[in-house]
Amino acid sequence: MSDPVVLISEEEIQTRVGELAEQISQDYADAGEIVLVGVLKGSFIFLADLARRLAIPRTIEFIAVSSYGTGSRSSGAVRLVMDVRGNIENKHVLIVEDIVDTGHTLKYLMGLMESHRPASVRACALVRKAERAEVDVEVKYLGFDIGEQWVVGYGLDYAEQNRTLPYIGVVSPDD
Ligand code: PRP
Repeated sequence: MSDPVVLISEEEIQTRVGELAEQISQDYADAGEIVLVGVLKGSFIFLADLARRLAIPRTIEFIAVSSYGTGSRSSGAVRLVMDVRGNIENKHVLIVEDIVDTGHTLKYLMGLMESHRPASVRACALVRKAERAEVDVEVKYLGFDIGEQWVVGYGLDYAEQNRTLPYIGVVSPDD
């Protein structure tokens, strides 16, 4: 696999995360508190940065799903590995994703969260591959729209590699 080529720099990411945090803080100013639900594994860095820059009370939950295996193609099938641990009934839930690709995962997660009877559910994603969308799902807070390249870094992996890069880079998988 080739070395990653910078697509979105560390500075661009940090600026955008700050903007998203400001927008979210304004939108939920009257909500009292929000629950950030990070989707493992890819969201862990984005969630950590976003959560620390919010100006409103927040709690953190994690959820784990699996859809890709170790390859580069989505099967469309979403498997729940771990649900939220805390009670989110009547709470304002913000799902935090690193990437929305086909949209199947986020669509599934929105439905799953709704089944917990929260006060509201919205989604925040750092990047989205709009051209690959297979289902219609709203990303209320979006960092960047990108093309169809395979991207790594800032939580995103290819075969578990490169998650901790501070930037988002493009790789060319061999398979
Ligand atoms: C990625 C990403 C989303 C999903 C998006 O997770 O974090 O959860 O794929 O794809 P979709 O829009 O086509 O459904 P992945 O399965 O790579 O797992 P990971 O976060 O553990 O790396």
